[in-house]
Amino acid sequence: MTGAPLPPGAVIGILGGGQLGRMSALAAARLGYACHVYAPDDDSPGMQVAAHRTVAAYEDRDALARFAASVAVVTFEFENVPAAALEALSGLVACRPGLAALATCQDRVAEKAFLGRISVPVAPWRAVETEADLAAAVAALGLPAVLKTTRLGYDGRGQAVLRTPEDLAPAFARLAPKPLVLEAFVPFAAEISAIAARGADGTVAVFDPAENRHAHHILDLSFAPARVPAAVAAAARAHVAAVAEGLDLVGVVALEMFLLPDGTLLGNEIAPRPHNSGHWTMDACAASQFEQHIRAVAGLPLAPATRHHDAVMKNLIGPEGMAAWPRLLAAPGVVPHLYGKAQARAGRKMGHATRLLAPGTLAAAPESDVLAGLL
Ligand SMILES: Nc1ncnc2c1ncn2[C@@H]1O[C@H](COP(=O)(O)OP(=O)(O)O)[C@@H](O)[C@H]1O
Ligand SMILES: [Mg+2]
Repeated sequence: MTGAPLPPGAVIGILGGGQLGRMSALAAARLGYACHVYAPDDDSPGMQVAAHRTVAAYEDRDALARFAASVAVVTFEFENVPAAALEALSGLVACRPGLAALATCQDRVAEKAFLGRISVPVAPWRAVETEADLAAAVAALGLPAVLKTTRLGYDGRGQAVLRTPEDLAPAFARLAPKPLVLEAFVPFAAEISAIAARGADGTVAVFDPAENRHAHHILDLSFAPARVPAAVAAAARAHVAAVAEGLDLVGVVALEMFLLPDGTLLGNEIAPRPHNSGHWTMDACAASQFEQHIRAVAGLPLAPATRHHDAVMKNLIGPEGMAAWPRLLAAPGVVPHLYGKAQARAGRKMGHATRLLAPGTLAAAPESDVLAGLL
């Protein structure tokens, strides 16, 4: 595509059929675009709301070529799309974000090296390919430490906390695919994340950082804005803006960070796509992270990333999440969202609900009040 914005009615291709693609497609529809979702599974959350669908493997070169010919631009909704698929498409159609940004974020070692290059601090780490590497890494970093696959991890899958020397061998044997990376365990005071949108013209708009709480390694709650000192919020914004610029990314990108008790932020993970910790932007901002993503991908100007309410987002996970649905539908001030997944398996993200609060009230309110009606 040229530098000109996509005209109304143009078709945006989305690799991946999950809820992030679904919410991106809904945002695209509101801006007058149609989406073509490409995913291996039929009846995926994204397919359900897409104007056009391709059900095919990411390795299917013919299907990828037909897909490329049918869209004006391609984006992806999760970073575990095989890089080879994006590489094949890159020769045929504009891809936003591009292959280099995807490749950096698919590999924890490349990701940490990149964060180092752009001066975002990270926890001490070592690459681990063999058991001998692991022993040396533990000798250098100490215990506890967290051993992770470099690729394909999500929601805490593909990682193990090492607490004693006896934990090393079983964790090394279990974790796949190899290679691995060992990180020092971070005694964080809080986890926060920030999301930046970067337009095709290089303009950057950053949402307020959110404070995240996980249950069983899956995001459970996000509080926006994060209840942190202004200097910490400013540093978080600067870090994610540096990530967006350093990756030369067109789209949105999330940076997960650990906040240490002394106020230092350490970068943890980069997601070059809309992020679960930004779902509150759908209801608490005029333009959500999904709209910003579509604006960027389509070459439109970004919207201001301003927030008109404070917000708390609760993920609806598995059967328990679905059991809360009728109550959340009826709760005042709570905006419910479901992703259209048929089976409520344990650990599966089924939807989310966002409680809106008057701007400026979250920081001072007791948490029990803030969570009333959500839990
Ligand atoms: N080095 C670490 N020290 C302490 N906690 C960690 C560390 N790495 C990960 N965690 C915890 O595990 C969660 C998931 O890890 P993360 O690296 O973000 O992988 P993913 O989100 O892909 O599963 C983090 O949000 C954090 O709660
Ligand atoms: Mg993470």
